[in-house]
Amino acid sequence: MEEEGICFVSKLSLVCTFIVGFQIIRFLFSYIYNNFLNVALQINSINLKETGKWAVVTGATDGIGKAYAEILAKKGLNVVLISRTLSKLEAVAKELGEKYKTVEFKTLVADFTDTQQIYHDLDKQLNGLDIGVLVNNVGMSYHHPEYFLDVKNKDEFFANLINCNIFSVTNMCKIVMPGMVERRRGVVVNVSSAAAQIPNPLLSVYSASKAYVLKFSEDLGYEYHKFGVTVQCILPGYVATNMSMIRNATWMAPSPLTYVKEAVRTIGIKEETTGYYPHSLLVDTINLLKSISPKLSRWIVFRTLANVRARALRRAVH
Ligand SMILES: NC(=O)c1ccc[n+]([C@@H]2O[C@H](COP(=O)([O-])OP(=O)(O)OC[C@H]3O[C@@H](n4cnc5c(N)ncnc54)[C@H](OP(=O)(O)O)[C@@H]3O)[C@@H](O)[C@H]2O)c1
Repeated sequence: MEEEGICFVSKLSLVCTFIVGFQIIRFLFSYIYNNFLNVALQINSINLKETGKWAVVTGATDGIGKAYAEILAKKGLNVVLISRTLSKLEAVAKELGEKYKTVEFKTLVADFTDTQQIYHDLDKQLNGLDIGVLVNNVGMSYHHPEYFLDVKNKDEFFANLINCNIFSVTNMCKIVMPGMVERRRGVVVNVSSAAAQIPNPLLSVYSASKAYVLKFSEDLGYEYHKFGVTVQCILPGYVATNMSMIRNATWMAPSPLTYVKEAVRTIGIKEETTGYYPHSLLVDTINLLKSISPKLSRWIVFRTLANVRARALRRAVH
């Protein structure tokens, strides 16, 4: 009787070990597949050149937007560069034009803190172009992390931020997507931020605006998938640009070109992604911590951003 009991317990522990082992292997396989294999194998990737003759990139004269413009030109797409400053637009068009001689560049001046007139003008200028790729990259953030009520000129600043980060994405989709739907082909890349997915106190309006971009992209993507339009939302962590004020690229904060080279490889494969593995690792770690202790994860991010704030305020005094 006792022997039978022992035998039953050992069988049970064998079954439990098998189940746990199977789950661990399943988890590891899906982690490796989702983070590396699917992108390495380029399963379901999209040939961007076949989506249309033109790409449109907002905020295209610096940082991530300029890198998208360059990578898309390298793939053979003509590129419409849009930003506020004509001289910067002309300089980028010249620089990329010399590098990618078979590709055409158009420059359009628009300040996305404006809400009405620019879209009327952009609609007219983009009308009739065979646009295959739209990159909604333009965005603005705080000068430094700050308490909501202490942000300088907050009425104007928050209105500008919401116009630039939310209104621009919505309206550019409204202008460009009808042509894509008609042709039954197109890719929209909406640039959100890791801030949309992790706690981000002291940058509350910025991260909320990026959460809009994420949610809008998810639902828009589902609506238009059957019309041949792919919508991707990318959620970068830190990239070494003017906005992040990081001058020297590192593994965690790559140069815009390094970042975009990786991110572009995920188009058609991932609907939502940080676009860059070290950023995924960071977001997963913070979210794992959040699932264990939401308070602790918020506190850690808050302390980090509060230190950045304190340094910025000290610099402003000196
Ligand atoms: N860098 C990061 O660490 C990071 C992290 C997460 C998400 N992001 C997101 O990535 C996107 C690009 O950021 P970035 O770091 O590459 O920025 P960036 O280097 O500062 O470049 C911003 C670009 O947007 C243009 N721009 C700025 N305000 C504009 C406005 N009101 N109207 C029209 N164009 C405007 C700028 O050109 P002009 O000055 O000539 O207009 C420039 O071409 C943003 O949506 C940002 O939220 C960045």
